[in-house]
Amino acid sequence: MAEVLSTIPECRAEIRKVRSRGLTAGLVPTMGALHEGHLSLVRQSQVDCDLTVVSIFVNPLQFGPNEDFAAYPRDLHADVRLLRDMEHRPVLIFAPSGTEMYPPKPLTFVVQAELGDHLCGPFRPGHFRGVLTVVLKLFEIVQPDHAYFGKKDYQQWRMIERMASDLSLPVDVIGMPTVREPDDLAMSSRNRYLSAEERKKALCLYHALVAGRDSVRNGETKAARISEVMMQTVGRTEGVRVDYLSVVDPQTLQPVENIEGRVLLAGAVRLGRSRLIDNLEVE
Ligand code: PAJ
Repeated sequence: MAEVLSTIPECRAEIRKVRSRGLTAGLVPTMGALHEGHLSLVRQSQVDCDLTVVSIFVNPLQFGPNEDFAAYPRDLHADVRLLRDMEHRPVLIFAPSGTEMYPPKPLTFVVQAELGDHLCGPFRPGHFRGVLTVVLKLFEIVQPDHAYFGKKDYQQWRMIERMASDLSLPVDVIGMPTVREPDDLAMSSRNRYLSAEERKKALCLYHALVAGRDSVRNGETKAARISEVMMQTVGRTEGVRVDYLSVVDPQTLQPVENIEGRVLLAGAVRLGRSRLIDNLEVE
């Protein structure tokens, strides 16, 4: 039976019990509106760890003033049902309220240099500060041995991985492959915002990344050319605004000019009121 805890002391007490028996704990931080992408992380944690903690918290700190915090899909009952249906090892759900996580307005934040300078960073000021702060807080509450993140949010995963190593956090940060719909659209809680028309158009981002990847595989080494190919592909779909379509180093997330080894092709586009992101690692 999945247990739902809503306070930090309850969560800590439960973890202490598990720890005292010498068992291992995995953490899957989420903002709820769970889908197969989230569940793939939970399954991996269940394979690796004795207890899996899934946190469900729509973190106000990581939303900008004009972003979708209020509209973000919330359905705790559906999320709990999904987790109950899938479990074969204990899952503990930590679903705190806003005031439980931030009783007074927080004055302390985690800020990271460089990795947030490109891709989503410039388009979402303060976003990664909010993500790193809440994730560090969750690490402190749950004290997991392993924590699971999706490469769908590649920049987020890399920044959390780096935070853990820079701050010597005793947690193994694991990046998991992007789970896609049958037509290859990356699963996202935000896909729920898409109208039927937008849902069809949304694939243009993945198609652009694939066109970029094909171009690399066919021997193109100039990143500017790859970006052009990706822009042209998106440009064939009307009503899509591009935030970025970039070629970056998968470790440093800095733009690459000439492609030599592995690169990350990453993009963000806006469609109606949705903002979609996706990426492909290319050898
Ligand atoms: P959320 O968007 O709910 O995602 C929770 C986790 O699920 C993240 O690690 C994300 O990368 C992963 N995920 C989402 N879609 C995925 C997909 N299609 N395939 C594989 N993994 C996927 O990311 C956040 O929440 C928040 O920023 C959070 C880390 C919880 C901090 O608030």
